[in-house]
Amino acid sequence: MAATKKPLNIVKMKKMKENKDPITMLTAYDYPSAVLAEEAGVDIILVGDSLGNAVLGYNSTIPVTIDDMVYHSRAVARGAQSTFIVTDMPFMTYHGGIDESLKGVRRIMQEGHAHAVKLEGGAEIADTVRAVVKAGVPVLGHIGLTPQSVNQIGGFRVQGKDAADAKRLLEDAKALEEAGAFAIVLELVTEAVAEAISNELSIPTIGIGAGRGTDGQVLVFHDVLQYASPYMPKRFVKTYADVGTIIRDSIGNYVQDVKNKSFPAEEHVFTAEDGVVDSLYGSSKAKVENRS
Ligand code: KIV
Repeated sequence: MAATKKPLNIVKMKKMKENKDPITMLTAYDYPSAVLAEEAGVDIILVGDSLGNAVLGYNSTIPVTIDDMVYHSRAVARGAQSTFIVTDMPFMTYHGGIDESLKGVRRIMQEGHAHAVKLEGGAEIADTVRAVVKAGVPVLGHIGLTPQSVNQIGGFRVQGKDAADAKRLLEDAKALEEAGAFAIVLELVTEAVAEAISNELSIPTIGIGAGRGTDGQVLVFHDVLQYASPYMPKRFVKTYADVGTIIRDSIGNYVQDVKNKSFPAEEHVFTAEDGVVDSLYGSSKAKVENRS
């Protein structure tokens, strides 16, 4: 599909914050979801490592590899040529030194065709963020609940509940801004703290489970559509369709139709020229006669 308009860029995103124009971000992991997200008008598509849970069947993002991210990012890029695409650097691919991190970033950009990468972590990864930005690659930060560190955090806990945690989050956000991140995802952060961080920064914040005071919102494609079975409801998600039920019921109807022979019906079949079958029998008869 040819691109019809130019994707958003990081300069315009900052303007959107200044103009209080909310930034919309949605994950997508393959060609059709990317096409649909673009047609629906999302500002940014995130090829999140949540694809580990959403489409690969893992119970965390930890097993996701850089090959997985490149593969899915490339499919998304084919489907959404007019949308700004951010692709996640997966678990432990940016902790082995700057050179190692840049190798992974190169793959995401050159092979995965993303416009930017997302890295989880705060002040502790600021030097890496700085190096990636210096290499010319926009970086989206991600603090609060960072799923790649879920074992270190001790579960999927809301962040920023007390003063010490709020201070740590603000310091992390400032460190990322200072390192050159173009925006920061705030995941599962209390509303007041997320709003305070958003007010302190000149770059946009994009919240998930972080309330109403951020500069944008991000949700996971499969959560928005309840595209999972079983679907696990989450307090911070608003679902807009129950696609899982639609898919299950539709496939069930297909199975029933085949079993009771109502599919294929007249309108699904192709017809041959008159006499084709007779000619087949005729030629096979002739063959038999020739042999005897
Ligand atoms: O991987 C992902 O989908 C994410 C979002 C939840 C922000 O990081």
